[in-house]
Amino acid sequence: MNIIPAENYNDLSQKAAKFIIEFVQSKPDAVLGLATGGTPEGTYKYMVEDFNHNKTSYQNVRTVNLDEYVGLPVENPNSYHAYMYNHLFKHIDVPEGGCHIPNGMAEDLDAECKRYDQLISSLGGVDLQLLGIGHNGHIGFNEPGTSFEKRTHTVELTRTTRRANARYFDSLDEVPTHALTMGIKAIMESRQILLIASGKDKAEAMRRLIKEENISEDFPASSLQAHSHVTIIADREALSLAYNYERRA
Ligand code: F6R
Repeated sequence: MNIIPAENYNDLSQKAAKFIIEFVQSKPDAVLGLATGGTPEGTYKYMVEDFNHNKTSYQNVRTVNLDEYVGLPVENPNSYHAYMYNHLFKHIDVPEGGCHIPNGMAEDLDAECKRYDQLISSLGGVDLQLLGIGHNGHIGFNEPGTSFEKRTHTVELTRTTRRANARYFDSLDEVPTHALTMGIKAIMESRQILLIASGKDKAEAMRRLIKEENISEDFPASSLQAHSHVTIIADREALSLAYNYERRA
């Protein structure tokens, strides 16, 4: 795993945006796997800023998002559809038809999962997958204990994850109990992975990811240790238990 240390959240966001922008510039028809949550907000902000100043084009890019809550209509501001539209899609020139997010309102969720998997393969797979990481090591919404063999599937969210996401809702009760997520198998098939993490509360998860050589379904992010092309961009606080800033060359 290649680690790019950042000083703080702003520095991390700039570095992650630069990484994605350069990727798109070198492959203008890239399939980008995208994530939501607090961490990528700054990255998207800097991608938008670059689009406004440098006009990096996303006209031929296609995107697939990792996950979506079950039961939140797209117009609900907490849906990941709304998140992606508001933070990124409406600000850049990516065609609307090229942006894909699982449909958490589908009547038949199993059929929706199959459709999403077929869609990803019809796009030729993901070139660069952006990931955040949960305190419990989840990636996407693959909670501890999820089989690494799964592709897109429905998950019941753990209380930890619902509590972490409750900051966006009026109360914990309003946080959906289920979500659709790309599985570890699909994430691992991405040609490149960029994981971003910020803040002290991610330090233990980053320690387990970087320092422990134990690939286990109890800590889903550990699957990334078996991937040959992973870059981690994280800030000083997130790396405080896993990386020695003073000793870097
Ligand atoms: C979001 C996602 C989640 C988040 C993770 C970290 O699409 O897949 O795995 O990346 O929960 O969230 P934040 O960035 O809010 O700490």
